[in-house]
Amino acid sequence: MTTRRLVLSRGAAIVGAASTGLLLPEIVRAQSNRIRVGFMLPYTGTFAQLGVNIENGVRMAINEKGGKLGGREIEWFKVDDESEPSKGVENANRLVQRDKVDVLIGTVHSGVQMGIQRVARESGVLNLIPNAGVHAATRALCAPNVFRTSFTNSQPTLALGKAMFDKGHKKAVWITWKYAAGDEAFEGFKQSYTAAGGTIVKELGLPFPNVEFQALLTEIASLRPDAVACFFAGGGAAKFIRDYAAAGLKDRIPLWGSGFLTEGVLDAAGPAADGIMTTMHYSDSLDTPRNRQFRQQFATTFKTQPDVYAVQGYDTGLLLAQGMAAVKGDIGNKAALYKSLETQTIDSPRGKWTMSKAHNPVQDIYLRRVENKENKVIGIAAKALADSGEGCKLG
Ligand code: PHB
Repeated sequence: MTTRRLVLSRGAAIVGAASTGLLLPEIVRAQSNRIRVGFMLPYTGTFAQLGVNIENGVRMAINEKGGKLGGREIEWFKVDDESEPSKGVENANRLVQRDKVDVLIGTVHSGVQMGIQRVARESGVLNLIPNAGVHAATRALCAPNVFRTSFTNSQPTLALGKAMFDKGHKKAVWITWKYAAGDEAFEGFKQSYTAAGGTIVKELGLPFPNVEFQALLTEIASLRPDAVACFFAGGGAAKFIRDYAAAGLKDRIPLWGSGFLTEGVLDAAGPAADGIMTTMHYSDSLDTPRNRQFRQQFATTFKTQPDVYAVQGYDTGLLLAQGMAAVKGDIGNKAALYKSLETQTIDSPRGKWTMSKAHNPVQDIYLRRVENKENKVIGIAAKALADSGEGCKLG
């Protein structure tokens, strides 16, 4: 339901009650006892599907726990952040100041997260980050009320470089969207690839969310590296994969990436994606009862296959439900709530994970290969990998 409709229906209920002269106190009490949860996610643009899958994951986890948080009914709010950093603060304040949410779940895009981070730090509202990997959120700008259930941008790529080098790829080209997520993914790749002995012959980039890849693909063909590594995601990733194959590079220069490259896009990319190697904290084919049960339930409920974004949303829902249960719905008891969120073990489809002191998952990173529209696990590329949390004074 949109925020506007919620506001209107609440107003109508209060007017109706007031006209009877009797019901108002009960209604106000019942409403204020509800916990207000706001989604700030991209519902349009290249990351639109990511936002939808995250929301669905959150709802599925909370429904599995009885549809309440610490025994309290939920009132939902939604803002489309359009992956637009310049509107980040304004959109976060729509939820925090106008809608007075108790919890803000968001977002996907690292630049937009910087706006949320500011609002969360200033207002003290609980912020659960279900995707955006921007380092600062759990490093220098970490906060007691901000918890991430996804990754830092360099976490997957810290496991990428060595795996690539070990496959015999000694010279690589890096390509990405030039913004925090791509730049920080590069940091992890550079560190791991050069430490293993690899050489990065060229760094290529284009502005987010541009998808005019042709000139850069021509440059890659003339550079002739042993392999290409990249960060792209969402609709843009599907196009990059198709364009890479159409340019004749697929069978000549192996394509590797931070695993977002092949998340939620395998139908759209088709056979062009076969053989792509990635590192990521989740894989479709994880052969555990937990993952099988999650995938079946998600597919049945939402008529679409889950991906890493659905898992991150699901884990956000689990974290929130478990934390709220621990404080019996008393979200005002911040010390106890944060302690609980810090010490939960999340029994995730990706495997069990815990929070680092800086509030970021400590998790395994899998090496994966695309086969027949599935990310198949090849092995664990990094075990219990924690972000450095550099500059964060929590814990
Ligand atoms: C980000 O901007 O932090 C971001 C966006 C999409 C992804 C991963 C990271 O898939």
